[in-house]
Amino acid sequence: MQYIKYERQENIAIIIIDRQEALNALNIQVLEELRETFAAIDTAVVRCVVISGAGGKAFVAGADIAEMSNMSQEEAVAYARKGHEVFCAIENFPLPVIAAVNGYALGGGCELSLACDLRLAAENAVFGQPEAGLGITPGFGGTQRLPRIIGVTKAKELLYTANRINAQEALVCGLVNAVYPQDELMEQAVKLAKKIATNAPIAVQAAKKAVNDGLAADMDAALAIETKLFAACFASLDQKNAMRAFVEKRPVDPFLNK
Ligand code: CAA
Repeated sequence: MQYIKYERQENIAIIIIDRQEALNALNIQVLEELRETFAAIDTAVVRCVVISGAGGKAFVAGADIAEMSNMSQEEAVAYARKGHEVFCAIENFPLPVIAAVNGYALGGGCELSLACDLRLAAENAVFGQPEAGLGITPGFGGTQRLPRIIGVTKAKELLYTANRINAQEALVCGLVNAVYPQDELMEQAVKLAKKIATNAPIAVQAAKKAVNDGLAADMDAALAIETKLFAACFASLDQKNAMRAFVEKRPVDPFLNK
């Protein structure tokens, strides 16, 4: 891998995009390496993933503008599809994914964070969809995920104005879960990942699937999805052990992922 650094801290996977000469901008190779990195994660061992950008300045400053500058319409279709393929793989990855946004998250960088389950921001984080100022729309899911996450009103404002917002503004509009000083961001992201990792993996994964699949369905279908996943948890040893521990008024043993 040229642009991705992968590390595992016990059952937490940490992915760092490292293309600092272009503020970690996503070219085709970075996208492909991201896809390969996620595909190689051992989901039987890892329980949560943290993704961030290298250097102190950017999470990801967008899709690579130089790469896009001379694209034909046909090439733009293929480029958007590539971004969608990779970001959908992250969105639908069975484990929770936390974006630790440590600087610029613009265009494709903001869109990458939107494909993650949770977003933590450093105080220097800057979010935005600058595409309208470049003569394009967002092409890696921003027009769809941003309104679903922060609501149509604010999303349209950001998409039409191309305005950037800082970490506190991102917190206020529900784009991020929390804001931390930059030097604490990774520690806090890993702490959150470890907290998630203490819970029953089968239940956490079912919750992710229920939310994601349910949001794409009408309420009746969504509740049917929930019912199926809820019931499936009762086939797990972890459910039996945890509920027995509660009834017997003793601490729950570590979960077995079974
Ligand atoms: N693509 C390619 N290269 C980029 C880049 C990007 N998105 N963002 C930054 N870079 C490169 C710069 O060209 C520069 O390279 P050189 O040193 O070789 O000149 C290097 O990174 C450092 O950038 P700056 O000198 O511009 O740094 P700065 O501190 O002055 O500004 C910034 C930082 C405000 C983030 C500025 O770099 C910037 O505006 N970047 C572009 C942000 C953007 O518009 N992103 C959206 C892209 S479109 C998109 O993502 C479409 C989609 O949905 C698929």
